Amino acid sequence: MTRILVTGAAGFLGFYIARQLAADPANSVVCVDSFVRGRRDVLYRDLTARPNVSHVTADLCDPNAVAALPDDIDVVFHMAALNGTQNFYERPFEVVRCCTLPTMNLIEKYGPQQRLKRWLYAGTSEAYASTVTRFGWEVPTGEDAPLSFDDIFNARWSYGASKAHGEIATVNGCRHFGIPFTIARFHNAYGPRMGDKHVIPDFLARARDGVYELYGHEDTRSFIYAEDAARATILLANADVAAGQVVNVGSEDEMTIRDLGHAIMKAAELSGEIALHPSPKGSVKRRAPKIARLKELTGYAPDWTLQAGLKATAEYYLSDAAVAYDLAPSQD
Ligand SMILES: NC(=O)c1ccc[n+]([C@@H]2O[C@H](COP(=O)([O-])OP(=O)(O)OC[C@H]3O[C@@H](n4cnc5c(N)ncnc54)[C@H](O)[C@@H]3O)[C@@H](O)[C@H]2O)c1
Repeated sequence: MTRILVTGAAGFLGFYIARQLAADPANSVVCVDSFVRGRRDVLYRDLTARPNVSHVTADLCDPNAVAALPDDIDVVFHMAALNGTQNFYERPFEVVRCCTLPTMNLIEKYGPQQRLKRWLYAGTSEAYASTVTRFGWEVPTGEDAPLSFDDIFNARWSYGASKAHGEIATVNGCRHFGIPFTIARFHNAYGPRMGDKHVIPDFLARARDGVYELYGHEDTRSFIYAEDAARATILLANADVAAGQVVNVGSEDEMTIRDLGHAIMKAAELSGEIALHPSPKGSVKRRAPKIARLKELTGYAPDWTLQAGLKATAEYYLSDAAVAYDLAPSQD
């Protein structure tokens, strides 16, 4: 059995990764979450009820809670973080705590044991967003873009800067302890269970009431479906050649938010006019990754088209499943 720890497993991407890993009976998956954002909804209960999956409730900011996690772990997917633009502005210190202390505590625990075959850290495009907006770095953006932060007094950067700390902690902590690591830099994953603080669920929440509105319609992004993002991440963790690498995970299909809105309407079979509003102050105008490195190291190609992914996401958010997620208890 390969013993795998997935942090943030009750959240969005951690859940998909844990579920794909659990589909292989040769894996034994330990899911960890504090439920600061993730929820124990019906899908998470199904996952953690499987015979090769267990769940631990732990605040990874607490070194004692991390010390109490199982020792016999072969691979860590460190996905826990406090994500969501609203959180960056409303609880920036909590964002800094949850994006830095768990990384340090986990490396301090698993590093000295020297058992880990791979430490997979979830990086983010937010860590280089200022390099694009302030210094005009190219889009689509490769992994070589310098990381930078526009203004340390703007709470928005509580997240990007803390996640950059995680990359530095990963490189230096793993080198210090001699652990093979990979940094997967995620770019706009989407799908059911993604929370409500992103453009797609935000649009669909209003669409439930027959209101079609978009903010930042001229901004561009590219979107990767959660199942594809999870598969790419697992491929990276298993690829010897991905050890010691930073690798973008995302899609190269850059599109405007306006076109995204129309694609959601089509996928969800909705009709009506979309009211278009400008971007909120400080929003990132363009974002899209180069994913040549991911393809070269793993042979990755997406399974999901945008239309299929948006259809599945719209079905979730237009049904009562998203409401049930919000109401799901975080504790037994
Ligand atoms: N979703 C994306 O498109 C995207 C893009 C870039 C980077 N990322 C990175 O990928 C990872 C997963 O993102 P996500 O969108 O799934 O986020 P998410 O918020 O859905 O999931 C993170 C989970 O971590 C848990 N968590 C937070 N602090 C914790 C703590 N102190 N102890 C234990 N658990 C804690 C939360 O409860 C939550 O369930 C994050 O590290 C994020 O920075 C995601």
